[in-house]
Amino acid sequence: MPADCGSCHVEQYRDWQTSLHAKAMGPGLMGQLVGMDPAARDEHQACIRCHAPLAEQADALADALGTAEGATSDGSTVASPPVASLHRQGVVCAACHVRAHQRAGPPRRDGSTPDAAQNSTLPHAGFVASGAFEDSRFCSACHQFQQDEYSLNDKLLENTYREWRASRHAREGRTCQSCHMPARRHLWRGIHDPEMLRSGVAFSVQGGEWIATGIRAALTVRNSGVGHYLPTYVTPRLIAEIEQVDIDGRSLPGSRVAHIIQRQLPLDLGHEIADTRLPPDGEVRLLYERPAHPAAVSLAYRLRVEPDEFYARFYRALLADGEQGRGRKQLRAALKKAESSAFVAFQEQRKLPAR
Ligand code: HEC
Ligand code: HEC
Ligand code: HEC
Ligand code: HEC
Ligand code: HEC
Repeated sequence: MPADCGSCHVEQYRDWQTSLHAKAMGPGLMGQLVGMDPAARDEHQACIRCHAPLAEQADALADALGTAEGATSDGSTVASPPVASLHRQGVVCAACHVRAHQRAGPPRRDGSTPDAAQNSTLPHAGFVASGAFEDSRFCSACHQFQQDEYSLNDKLLENTYREWRASRHAREGRTCQSCHMPARRHLWRGIHDPEMLRSGVAFSVQGGEWIATGIRAALTVRNSGVGHYLPTYVTPRLIAEIEQVDIDGRSLPGSRVAHIIQRQLPLDLGHEIADTRLPPDGEVRLLYERPAHPAAVSLAYRLRVEPDEFYARFYRALLADGEQGRGRKQLRAALKKAESSAFVAFQEQRKLPAR
């Protein structure tokens, strides 16, 4: 249990608890798993090999599905199992640090590694030091599909490691860990964190000017420091937009121009509608040319981020078709969570020059 490790490894435990790895068995996952046969372990494995990968977690999940969580038809009356259930804890410490009953970790910060004599004096019989922990391949077990897994338009559905591999960041020695675990912190901030998102994106605006047909302006969004596509997954959506606003900053109808940055897929994942993501160092320029609204005083430029756009769409459809009896309650919670993760990453207002 992570809490047990946390009694000694205080900082890692505190960080990990706030990370999405600790929340990898949230309502979106459970809402889909409770519909499965408790004995269908291969089916469970197709999800939990990344979301809760320990053998003990597979056992805990099968038990839970066979009892309280799985047995109800609407999930509304049964008390949740103890939050501490191992399968609920997602990507736990041991998933990354225990191999064949032995602890493994990176060499110490000073580069040293314990020998057998030293290990015999340490708690949990010490640890095996391995450089693999500092290598991006360590993350690819869960963040990169294998060659024979699902792909569309010759691109695997999860392709983060390869996107990184082909980027300047790989050539310059910037690993997944250096950006997502700076100073070995166990935070793994990603697209759900506005500050992290902003650290990898350059947003610049070109002020409005009058032209014969109205107003002209532009904005540029650049993937300046993300080690892979922005965004890497098919689930987030970014929207760059420009619109006219009145003296009180209110949007003026009919004046908005927007550009979507996303690998867009329909819910059945049957084909790729478009892929407008930005590769490392790639950029997009949104041009604005619209007639002026009589009340226009300024232009507003924005980059909005919906980290869970695909999931929100997906949960809405599942709930609408009414067949998810067992998971309804969790799916409603998951939908709420997916909708509430949206934020405005950049926003700027520029006054229009006098007419
Ligand atoms: C009783 C205290 C204690 C507990 C409980 C404990 N550890 Fe440790 N752990 C240590 C000590 C001490 C070291 C050795 C640090 C050193 O010598 O550099 C260590 C080393 C490690 C390392 C290697 C760190 C490195 O530099 O690579 C890892 C990984 C690790 N522990 C993981 C865990 C996990 C996972 C758990 C829970 C399953 C756990 N530990 C429970 C005290 C503890
Ligand atoms: C055992 C599988 C596993 C391993 C290994 C793993 N991850 Fe994850 N990671 C996940 C899962 C599952 C999620 C999604 C959790 C959720 O939101 O439900 C995730 C989420 C994340 C996120 C948050 C993404 C967001 O949407 O904001 C980041 C960042 C991340 N991982 C980075 C890493 C890095 C860097 C490594 C390597 C050091 C790594 N992961 C190793 C399974 C794993
Ligand atoms: C190869 C590893 C892998 C497998 C297998 C996998 N996932 Fe994920 N999953 C991830 C990662 C990484 C993320 C976080 C990135 C993202 O948001 O897409 C994630 C995110 C999610 C999320 C959104 C975050 C949340 O907790 O609400 C859901 C829901 C989800 N997965 C469901 C599933 C289901 C259901 C299955 C099995 C059919 C599955 N996953 C199989 C790696 C995996
Ligand atoms: C998704 C995989 C993953 C999970 C989960 C994870 N770690 Fe780590 N941990 C790593 C990696 C990778 C490193 C090395 C990072 C580096 O070298 O930049 C590391 C480093 C460490 C270290 C050495 C830290 C140092 O400062 O030298 C300790 C101790 C540790 N982890 C303990 C834990 C504990 C305790 C937990 C659970 C609360 C945990 N880890 C969860 C991947 C993980
Ligand atoms: C140069 C820094 C950098 C490197 C290297 C890097 N990332 Fe990221 N990553 C980011 C930033 C910034 C974001 C937030 C913007 C975004 O989502 O694209 C992010 C977002 C993510 C997300 C959130 C989901 C999404 O759709 O974007 C995941 C998962 C992730 N990274 C995993 C990885 C893995 C795995 C590696 C190594 C193969 C890696 N990252 C390498 C900077 C980096």
